[in-house]
Amino acid sequence: MSHFAPFLQKIRKHGLTPANVICYLSQRCPFAVGLFWGTLRLRLKAALFGVSLGEKTTAHGTVCLMRWPGGVIHIGNRVHFISSWRRATASSLCAPVKLRVFGQGSSISIGDGCELSGTSITARSTSIRLGKNVLVGPNSVITDSDFHAPWPCTARSENPGTERDREVVISDYVWIGMRCIILKGVHIGTGAVIGAGSVVTRDIPPYSVACGNPCRVVKQLAPPVAEKQGLQDRV
Ligand SMILES: CC(C)(COP(=O)(O)OP(=O)(O)OC[C@H]1O[C@@H](n2cnc3c(N)ncnc32)[C@H](O)[C@@H]1OP(=O)(O)O)[C@@H](O)C(=O)NCCC(=O)NCCS
Repeated sequence: MSHFAPFLQKIRKHGLTPANVICYLSQRCPFAVGLFWGTLRLRLKAALFGVSLGEKTTAHGTVCLMRWPGGVIHIGNRVHFISSWRRATASSLCAPVKLRVFGQGSSISIGDGCELSGTSITARSTSIRLGKNVLVGPNSVITDSDFHAPWPCTARSENPGTERDREVVISDYVWIGMRCIILKGVHIGTGAVIGAGSVVTRDIPPYSVACGNPCRVVKQLAPPVAEKQGLQDRV
């Protein structure tokens, strides 16, 4: 009841119609329930599957954790996973967040304060590291492998090989737009912005805006003052 009186006051103050109120509640209620169940399920799965999970990390909707024996998944503090169309802001989600590592040597590490929205990350035989406060827009894919060898063509499926797999590093404060693909071996520097729909095949320097397929730098951003004073590119 303690919340009800201020809520009524707000309705009167803003002159809201019943339709406005119903519309608002129809978004807020499933939102709260989705966050509660998503986070509970993520915590249970992480404990059962041997995935390390930081404090205050939350999930809205299902997060698929797929860890083959030997693979490592580490999720930092205050990470937020958006796996539901209700919570996704700019786009509907094609699929829930998926973190998948294969066996020995493969790892995914997600730094503190990251936000992932319907993102698929697959580390087949190397590592994929996201630094702190990385934002990944809806429906992006990050992977360390091509999964099939280009040659010989007859052995693409039977003998895919892992020798061409390369680690991926996404540094602190990177913002990846919606529907991007980050391919093997890429290092994205601190604070860079990757435009929507980009296919990133080569390294992207810190504090740049890069877009397109293939993704190329279109402009340079000014680093924050602390960085200018000599702090190094982290991760
Ligand atoms: C990357 C982005 C933020 C850059 O915005 P901006 O700083 O206003 O950039 P501009 O519009 O000045 O574009 C600079 C150049 O890059 C090009 N460009 C911008 N975004 C592009 C994209 N996604 N793909 C290809 N080219 C792009 C522009 O056409 C322009 O080229 P030109 O100089 O030849 O005309 C924006 O373009 C973008 O992709 N926004 C989507 C963000 C998103 O996905 N949000 C989802 C929620 S997290």
